[in-house]
Amino acid sequence: MKQITKAADLQQAVNAAKKQNLEIGLVPTMGALHEGHLSLIERALKENDFVVVSLFVNPIQFNNKEDLEKYPRTIEADLDLIAGLISRMEGRKAQELLAFTPSVEEMYPQGEPKEVYHFGPVEEVMEGPRRPGHFSGVAVVVRRLFDLAQPRRAYFGEKDYQQIAVIRALLEQIKYPIELVPCPIVRADDGLALSSRNMRLSPAARAIAPTINATLEQAAEMAEFEDVDDVKEWVLDTLASFHEVNPSLCPDGLKFEPEYFEIVDARTLQPIDNWEAAGDLGAVGCIAVWLDGVRLIDIVKF
Ligand code: PAF
Repeated sequence: MKQITKAADLQQAVNAAKKQNLEIGLVPTMGALHEGHLSLIERALKENDFVVVSLFVNPIQFNNKEDLEKYPRTIEADLDLIAGLISRMEGRKAQELLAFTPSVEEMYPQGEPKEVYHFGPVEEVMEGPRRPGHFSGVAVVVRRLFDLAQPRRAYFGEKDYQQIAVIRALLEQIKYPIELVPCPIVRADDGLALSSRNMRLSPAARAIAPTINATLEQAAEMAEFEDVDDVKEWVLDTLASFHEVNPSLCPDGLKFEPEYFEIVDARTLQPIDNWEAAGDLGAVGCIAVWLDGVRLIDIVKF
């Protein structure tokens, strides 16, 4: 593994790899790596000759200044995790992994980019209206990474389900021949979806956080015999009333505050009102919940 911080060095390494016809895999991250990211990197190392992992906290995708400031920055530990993965990994195809850790000035040498992306209906639901400018900011950085790394494949986690739909729409717009590889959520043993934000949860909040996944799993079972609207209402009520039903688990006013739970077509991300309305990819439930001042997201496939 080699760490590089300069875009020009990345381009040079990529050009050399291209000359040898090596297939490049890109794993864009914002660092604070956990097993979920490592599963993307592991897959990229198996499927490509050369892997670029970017670790960059992209300021232009944060519409909340406090969230940007609080975002964990743990580059040294991240590099150790990647090195550990490489050393224990069997069946690896890639011989080279570049960890690209640019500064903000390196990524945006002209200052804050002026480009704005619009993706229509896929960004007009769920996260889109609640985080204005977020997906455009993601698209700007991902396109820049695509331009620098010129990957054959790019790997994204399904926890950020809407982000995957947006990247798919970006690829359609810019017509780059890049295969988008969505990768399954990695969960802790108790079911909580791994997220860099989990480390901000207090012990009491961490202890009840798996309720989100448990509730979604129960919702998937209910979907066999309940209507879409009833399943939605049940999920929101179950989480919102958790502290009343379980006061001993919720000290000091701890409670789940669901922001949304939508059941949508898994491709178009448009809400459906009956199970038959879902298209070829089926239906997916997407949730955002506040717990202990931390915004957690998760999904369930129906
Ligand atoms: O999913 C993330 O961590 C980020 O949105 C991404 C894709 C690395 C862009 O900054």
